[in-house]
Amino acid sequence: WIAPTAALLIGYLLGSIPFGVILTRVAGAGDLRTIGSGNIGATNVLRTGRKGLAAATLLLDLLKGLAAVLVVAHLFPGDEALAAAGAFIGHCYPVWLRFRGGKGVATLMGIVLALHWPAGLVYAAVWLGLLAAVRISAVAGMAAAASAPLAAALMGQFDLVLLLLALALIVLWKHGDNIERLLAGTEPRIGRAKG
Ligand code: G3P
Repeated sequence: WIAPTAALLIGYLLGSIPFGVILTRVAGAGDLRTIGSGNIGATNVLRTGRKGLAAATLLLDLLKGLAAVLVVAHLFPGDEALAAAGAFIGHCYPVWLRFRGGKGVATLMGIVLALHWPAGLVYAAVWLGLLAAVRISAVAGMAAAASAPLAAALMGQFDLVLLLLALALIVLWKHGDNIERLLAGTEPRIGRAKG
């Protein structure tokens, strides 16, 4: 039981680092949770007007998911799925922020890239493609997350399908407010000050 517990814990500890909140505060751009959607992810960092900070948040949130899986693959081979679940749960429900974390899109991208990089490339392509086409971060993120279990199944990675399906469902669950705004036609597009 030591290796699975350690894998879960390493994943959670890495995943729960709220890079968006930390970078925004260190840069003197305020408390991210009181800005825009209040979310701790890169999209909301972008709403502070600091593109570099948003890019750094995206990269670091992605890398912590990737690192959790790779570190555990090295230390406790066979327990990568637990590391992935731990990192994802850590990002979405960090104890440091009273369990009010992010929506998981960037961290899941890193996780999928580490678990099976071809599926990760599909994830990145869906995300980037929709971001460019629709310019609504939540739409791109939800579609990318949903594409992960599908890509894994089509690529014969059947041991990953259930895990990725569960994580994608949490991504959708976390986007409840975005879905309401999308239905109401009030979800903001990126790259514009308002709506
Ligand atoms: O990754 C989060 C993104 O999909 C939505 O973020 O701030 O627009 O709710 P936000």
